[in-house]
Amino acid sequence: MEKVLVTSALLYINGLPHLGHMIGCLLPSDVYARFMRLTGHNVLYIVGTDEHGTTSEVGALKAGMDVQSYCDMFHQKHREVYQNFNLSFDYFGRTSSEQNKEITYRIFNDLDKNGFIEEREIKQIYSVDDNMFLADRYITGTCPYCGYEKARGDQCENCTKVLEPTDLINPKSAVSGSSNLEVRTSKHLFLNLPKIEPELRQWLKSKEAFWPDIAYSIALKWLKEGLKPRCITRDLKWGFPVPKQGFEDKVFYVWFDAPIGYIGITKQWADEKPNERDWKDWWFEDKDVYYVQFMGKDNVPYHSITFPATLLGTKEGFKQVDYLKGSSYLTYEGGKFSKSENRGVFATDATKEFEADYWRYFLMSNMPESSDSCFTFDLFASVVNKDLNGVLGNFVSRVLKMTASKLGPTVPTTGEQTSFEQELLSNLKTHIDLYFKYMTALEFRKALNELRAVWVEGNNYITVTEPWTVVKENPQRAGAILNTCINLIRVFALLTFPVMPHTSEKMLALFNLNINPNADLKDFDLQKEMAYFKGSEPFEIGEALFERISPERIAELKTKYGS
Ligand code: 2FM
Ligand code: ZN
Repeated sequence: MEKVLVTSALLYINGLPHLGHMIGCLLPSDVYARFMRLTGHNVLYIVGTDEHGTTSEVGALKAGMDVQSYCDMFHQKHREVYQNFNLSFDYFGRTSSEQNKEITYRIFNDLDKNGFIEEREIKQIYSVDDNMFLADRYITGTCPYCGYEKARGDQCENCTKVLEPTDLINPKSAVSGSSNLEVRTSKHLFLNLPKIEPELRQWLKSKEAFWPDIAYSIALKWLKEGLKPRCITRDLKWGFPVPKQGFEDKVFYVWFDAPIGYIGITKQWADEKPNERDWKDWWFEDKDVYYVQFMGKDNVPYHSITFPATLLGTKEGFKQVDYLKGSSYLTYEGGKFSKSENRGVFATDATKEFEADYWRYFLMSNMPESSDSCFTFDLFASVVNKDLNGVLGNFVSRVLKMTASKLGPTVPTTGEQTSFEQELLSNLKTHIDLYFKYMTALEFRKALNELRAVWVEGNNYITVTEPWTVVKENPQRAGAILNTCINLIRVFALLTFPVMPHTSEKMLALFNLNINPNADLKDFDLQKEMAYFKGSEPFEIGEALFERISPERIAELKTKYGS
């Protein structure tokens, strides 16, 4: 059984995800993990929170909490959100874990031993009143180029110029507003990327034919601009202390230990059952693992350049990413999601409004795969009303109600295949083959088009066979048609499971069936599956699978979440 390792970007702990985060990495990683399990692969799916860095320190400071308690609290909140979206991770871990510390130290020591770590002096801004060094983006001031007064020390949002904090006019601490700032010099450790570059280039080249364009082109752009040594330590208190003489009062930079977190979290998972699991079975090149990473495009440089270079520099043979699924951005009603301006649906609210499957289906079928896509409530409602209610939900309730009222509460008996069934099966096979192909290739929008096309085939079939008319003259043939439709419902449920797991379970429960999430699409044989119900199996009609979204509800949601 092929081993597949799936990781989703580990979101910063402070602040909860919005729909853009959900579709940027979390949902597609779950859909893919579920699909791979269902087709019989041995999947390990790792998710967690990214907890170090200035953002956590500042977030805790503002919340009046110590950083550890702040992270504990937010870790739980993230966990709840991900569970509400029905993410099927094998482990939900933390970059601040002891396991991650151990792996981070192992990797750092390898790099140091292999001559890839060097010391340099750098100048940093120190805020006397805050009693801390400030990360570039925590210094604000006036942009020397355009005069924008809220420019950040790393970049001016207004004119997009990349800045150094020392460029700013009237610099202030974004933490306290204090302008009592000093430039202080201190010694830091750098990862010598230029020294690893030749090996990295060769590795990256091998991905050109496979990675989606969005990921490969970002990686290439970074390489072309030329790699510089990268500072991997910071003067902060919160983080892993650097295990090297003379640097004990510093911690590792958040982007050093964050991707190592994928390995650290695997170890957290393995440590729960040490007799059965070993993190090393998943993290070395000779272990025959296929490794897929999911992330938004802003994370691509770290996953295609710095993290792979870090792993190469260890010379331990660590597993590298095979497929990097970078995605573009989701906009909200034509603009940005913004917590402070109360614009956009945040994941905590989303599942209070509608069950996760509505979001899962809508977002996956409109995923910003190759370019940005836009969330609007009008589009959301139209997709829910057309695809989920009009096509899938309607088919299920129509078939079951008609069968119960015309023929009784059990599945009618199978009949001879006519040209209608032959055409149905042939069309279904085309769409299902494509669905498998696109899911395997991680082309989700195309895959979801095929899934919808599969549902549409059911509606087309019932329209042309007209069982409600046939039943008057030939109840046996009408029974055979409805038997085909009922077998279709089960096939729809199996195929739909990766995208809408709860809906799929509800559909199967109508026949008192459960899904086997680790096998039900393995060696899928349409003819065989369509002959699953032979006749006389009991069923329930159940409730409507989806609710329609009315124009009044759309207006209400727009007012509530901003438009
Ligand atoms: O962009 C973010 O939210 C980062 N915390 C992602 C890190 S991904 C991985 F490296 F952990
Ligand atoms: Zn500017």
